[in-house]
Amino acid sequence: MKPEDLKRPFQWDERRPLLQDGVFYVPERIENYHTFSLPGWEDPLLFGNINPVKVEYCSGNGTWIANCSIKDPSTNWVAVEKRFDRVRKIWSKKNNLKLQNLIAISGVGYTVSKHYFKSESIDEIFINFPDPWPKKRHAKNRIIQPYFIEEMWRTLKPQGLVTIVTDDEDYSTIIIEEMNKFSGFSSQFSAPYYKTDLPGYGTSYFEELWRSKGKQIRYHQFLKKDPTYGCSCSKTSHFFYI
Ligand SMILES: C[S@@+](CC[C@H](N)C(=O)[O-])C[C@H]1O[C@@H](n2cnc3c(N)ncnc32)[C@H](O)[C@@H]1O
Repeated sequence: MKPEDLKRPFQWDERRPLLQDGVFYVPERIENYHTFSLPGWEDPLLFGNINPVKVEYCSGNGTWIANCSIKDPSTNWVAVEKRFDRVRKIWSKKNNLKLQNLIAISGVGYTVSKHYFKSESIDEIFINFPDPWPKKRHAKNRIIQPYFIEEMWRTLKPQGLVTIVTDDEDYSTIIIEEMNKFSGFSSQFSAPYYKTDLPGYGTSYFEELWRSKGKQIRYHQFLKKDPTYGCSCSKTSHFFYI
């Protein structure tokens, strides 16, 4: 199957949450998120088993997560990607490689998580090469924001792990600052809070690109701490730091 074989399931004015052809569509700027309830991961419409669930945000063309789902078939893998042209590539990998333990979600990470991911339902989260948006006026577009960190904390099971990988030194500093500020996570690595190698981690399209240009890759890992350290707050009220 070619990526183009996956057709957009609705016109712009018919946008709605929809689970179809192994893809969960979560459009932006709609009012009817509540009209759809995502079944539990164990539902036959999703994975149909109770294996661990690992989510990758910003999956791009899905190279890393497709390889993970081949290497680790007893884990359920969820790819969240906002660009439909890239979701199509993940979908074609899933079909051509017959990856029953991989689901693609077409949507923005925060929107998908806020409306559809249940609390303490995810074993592990990965973000590989998130767009760094280096200009100050574009900073609001970065996926790593306090409200998204709180979402990751809410949806992870106790002792769940977040891994964030980047080639961008400034973004690495921001990731470390923001994650370390949030009392619900603790870095798995001592100062400077990143490693430049994580054997067996796997590679992605962007990792190969940046390595071929001689760039250093930084791996960050944060563990979800005791539930009493965080709090559940709205997007605007945020959380307390201790
Ligand atoms: C630099 S690419 C990295 C792709 C892939 N992880 C890799 O390493 O090859 C960043 C990807 O994140 C997606 N993205 C950016 N912000 C996102 C968000 N908030 N939610 C979901 N996807 C997002 C972009 O569309 C793009 O495909």
